[in-house]
This record gives sequence, C-alpha cells and structure tokens, in this order.
Amino acid sequence: MGIKSDIVQPEAWQAALAALDWQVEMGVADWVQEHPVNRYDLPDRLERPIAAETPALARPAARQEAQTVDPVDVARHAAQAARTLDDLRAALMAFDLCELKRGARSTVFADGHPAARVLILGEAPGREEDQEGLPFVGRAGQLLDRMFEAIGLSRQSHDPALALYITNVMPWRPPQNREPDPDEIAMMRPFLERHIALTNPDVIVTMGNTPCLALLNQKGILRLRGTWTSALGKPVLPMTHPAYLLRNPAAKREAWADLLTLKARLT
Ligand code: URA
Repeated sequence: MGIKSDIVQPEAWQAALAALDWQVEMGVADWVQEHPVNRYDLPDRLERPIAAETPALARPAARQEAQTVDPVDVARHAAQAARTLDDLRAALMAFDLCELKRGARSTVFADGHPAARVLILGEAPGREEDQEGLPFVGRAGQLLDRMFEAIGLSRQSHDPALALYITNVMPWRPPQNREPDPDEIAMMRPFLERHIALTNPDVIVTMGNTPCLALLNQKGILRLRGTWTSALGKPVLPMTHPAYLLRNPAAKREAWADLLTLKARLT
C-alpha cells in the first residue's frame, strides 16, 4: 500500500489502526517487506547458548547438544539457581526454550506485593498483558481487581495482610490466546515452583483450568472451584477465571461464595 499524501484523514487512520489491531489479535507477528528475507539463513534463536548455568550449550558442539537438551531440566537448573525474585525474573528472560517466547512482546513476570499473604495464579498473559508487561490488566484483570477489592484485598496495597501478589503459569502470551499445552506447562513448572518458594504466600488462589493443571495436575475447574486443597505445601483455592465470569455472569454468585471462603480463611 503506497502513501500518496502526507495528510491522512482521521477516519482512514482509525480504520488502518483497527485493521492492524485485528491482525495483531489474529497472531500476526511479522509483515512482508519490500525485499525478501531468506529465513533459512537466519540463526535459530533456540540454538543460541542460553545461560551461564548451562555451560554444555556454550561449548562448540552446542548445535548438536541444543537439539537433545531437556528443556524441563534446563528450566529446573535455572529456577533453582535463583536466590531472589529478581534472579528468577532474569532467569526467565534468559530462558529461550519455550516456543511461546518467540511470539511474545513481553515476559510477564508478576505484579503486586511480593510479601502478600495471597498469591493469585492465572493462566497466561493476553494481548493487553503482553503489551503492558503486567498480569491481569485487560478486562478480565479489571474484574479480578474488583472481585478481590470487594473482600478488602488489592495488588496496590503496601500492607502484606491486605495485598495481592499476581502471577501466571506462563510468562508469555500464547498465540491467539490458546490454552498452553501440557509440555509448555511442564517446562514452566520449575519456575512456578521457585516463584512460590521465594514469595512464600499463606494461600494460593488459582484462576481457571491451567493453574489447576500446573499445580494440582487436575482439570475440571467447575468441579474443583470453591474447595480448598493443597499443593507445594500451601493451601490452594481454585476459582473460575474472571474471563469465564465475563462470559457467564450467572457464575459470579459462586465466585462470590469462593471469595467469602477466602476471606474467612484469612481472618
Ligand atoms: N488471563 C490470565 O490468566 N492471566 C493474565 O495475566 C491475563 C488474563
């Protein structure tokens, strides 16, 4: 499409922006350029040496070894080496073995108070989260904020007793917001375990199916919701995802009951 004039009508600009937004929403991550790019000539990011903790990958035979490396093992070593949340964030940023990272704009780590009594665990960033680099900032996130504010908890609070710490199973947005697959979840689980160990919350609230799969190895959130269970030595309360509540407002009544259960547990 050639640009014929410097003066762009606002409607045309809005229409072009809407078309671009739609394409990003559909998962377009690249565009056809004037000169063709031979992508077979580009270095494969997965074959780069990925971290100082994995010296085997930095040796000259890296190409061959990189193909046989066990991503869960690499994740485990990287996560276990993290002594602080900053270390853990850096380890995630250096971890290049998850395909989702290629299509994501941000590594979405966490938001809220790291010493909060309550840790909220979601699924994965969506479009807004990927753009802003923070979890739960889109429509579902705004509902999540309102839900927890109704029982006096907020990610903005400086008091650990009233605060929330919010993170996701996956730090990278899956294309078209598809559910993360079991391999991707297994790869990120060592980071999740370390995240929970380093923040040491009193309780974990999981939102939707993916965190139940990651922490409890169970699916079926409509059956699991509202019943306390435990994982990694912590009490866990599964709740329906706020995106589900936006689509099924009638389910908010049960979500409110779950919030009251959480409030009672904290007092
Ligand atoms: N849904 C999630 O599970 N997590 C987010 O961060 C945003 C939407």
